[in-house]
This record gives sequence, C-alpha cells and structure tokens, in this order.
Amino acid sequence: MLRLASLDDAAHAIRVMQVRGAPLIGATAAYGVALGLAGDTSDAHLDHVIDTLAATRPTAINLHWALDRMRRVLQNSALATRRDLAWSEARAIATEDKAANAAIGQHGLALLQARQQSGQPINIMTHCNAGRLATVDNGTAISPIYAAHAAGLPVHVWVSETRPRNQGLLTAWELREAGVPHTLIADNAAGLLMMQGKVDLVIVGADRIAANGDTANKVGTYLKALAAKAHGVPFYVAAPLSTIDFACPSGAAIPIEERAAEELGAGDTPVANPAFDVTPAGLIGGIVSERGIARAGELGQWKT
Ligand code: MRU
Repeated sequence: MLRLASLDDAAHAIRVMQVRGAPLIGATAAYGVALGLAGDTSDAHLDHVIDTLAATRPTAINLHWALDRMRRVLQNSALATRRDLAWSEARAIATEDKAANAAIGQHGLALLQARQQSGQPINIMTHCNAGRLATVDNGTAISPIYAAHAAGLPVHVWVSETRPRNQGLLTAWELREAGVPHTLIADNAAGLLMMQGKVDLVIVGADRIAANGDTANKVGTYLKALAAKAHGVPFYVAAPLSTIDFACPSGAAIPIEERAAEELGAGDTPVANPAFDVTPAGLIGGIVSERGIARAGELGQWKT
C-alpha cells in the first residue's frame, strides 16, 4: 500500500506513475490539493499547489479537469474553511468517478448483450489498463466487462501487453482476480487475431477526448483502431465525461507525453517514447460515458 501524505507525495506519485490512469490521476490530484493546503491556505499557496500538480503529466485531461474544479470551488472560499472544503470536494470527485464508471459499465453491458450469439463467449480486445487500478473504482473500458461477467454473459478478453510499461499486465491481474476469462497477447498480435475473426469488439479507455471525438489513449490504441476498421470489428471508447475536453477542438491539439528513453531499456540507442497516440473520431464506433453511448462526432449533446 502506498500512503500519500503531502503535496510532494501526490505530485511524485502521479509523475512517476505510482498512481496512473486518467480518472485516478484526477482524483489523486484533487486529494493532492487538500494535502497541499495543510500549513497554508492562502491564495498564493493555492496557486502554487495547483500549478505543481498540473505540471506532473500533460495528456490526461482528468488531471486538469479536477484541478480546475478544485480551483473554482476554493478560490472564493474563506481561508479558515478552505482546507475542509478541499477535502470534501476531493471526496466528491472520487465518489462521482466511481458512480460514473459504474454507469459506463451498465451502458457498455447493453452493447455487449447486443453482440451475444447463442451462448458463445464474446471476444473483447482491450489495450492498456482501464480497469479498477486506473480509476477510483469499477474501471472505464473494463467496467462493461465486469458488468457482463456479473450478469452471467460469457466473455473472453484479449489483453495486449502495452509496451513499454506493460499496463496490460495490470489488466490481466485485475481480470484474474475477478475470475474473468482472458488471454495476454503481445501488442503486435492484435492485427492477426482480428484478421482471424477472433475479436468481436475492441473497447479501450481514454486519456483525453477532443470536442470532435478524436481520442488520445495509450500508445498502440491507434494501430488497433486501424486494424479493427480493416477487419470490420467494432471499436469503442469508454470514458467518463471528465475525460472529454470540449475546449480542445481536435486530436491535433492534444499534448502527447514524451516519456524517458530508459522506459525502452535500449542503452545508448536514440529513443522516441510517445506515451499516447490519437485515434481519429472516424475510426471510433461510439463513445460510452455515464450518459450513454454517443457517436464520436456527436459529443456536443453531453456538453453541460
Ligand atoms: O498508465 P498511464 O497513466 O500512462 O495510462 C493511462 C491509461 O491508463 C490508459 O491510457 C487508459 O487506457 C485510459 S485511463 C482509464
């Protein structure tokens, strides 16, 4: 277990990926604000706390969404009650994330039920980790899989390793714990499995969805979407509304995190290590949020 007790702990945990996954990063940042106000609740210190957390990782919009929300709630509050308010808002963010992901599970379950054929397991492919370990609870892309398993719908999950950080191993661990049938594959095996007709549907999470539906997710997602298109396999994204960045017009404006060369373990060889890629809206069959399922080009209906 990892105990975060200060602003620096929270910022470090996000930066080095001790906590990871867009929704969990957002919730951790919110609690990081509450921790950061421990000795000083002044406006200047609030700015410093938020700026410190905002600088940890660039792509997942949930981080900035949570920090903006904390700032909105705290900026006009009395200094004496600001810290308590920060704790209660962070708790609200965490509670809402759990509920949103449970709702995603139910909407996604309907999607899976529609693909059920004569008691055969539905073969679902996922990438990275969009389960409980990446969220406060329930997961995003894995939430419908948990819901299907709980409802007695037979499913089997193809889990891609997700090099270089191997988040797929986290997904495999989660599914094993939950008793959901699954098979780990090398990332590069995805196209072959689709070509062989062994994948009924792909569902992935998201780190930022632009207003036009272009979606940033863990690097490798785009290649899966291309292969899915080529083989007529439906491709879905599951994410809470906190992952949609209506201020970002398209995928071209999403900052892609470049991580350390060491993650590829290539010694002195020059390395490029983009941690995310962008799947164009046209390759996405639908986006599942707590509000339901929308076409990627029609997210405006969810703007509040
Ligand atoms: O491990 P990260 O934080 O770099 O990756 C983020 C993710 O977990 C994935 O991209 C995921 O598919 C979307 S977040 C549930």
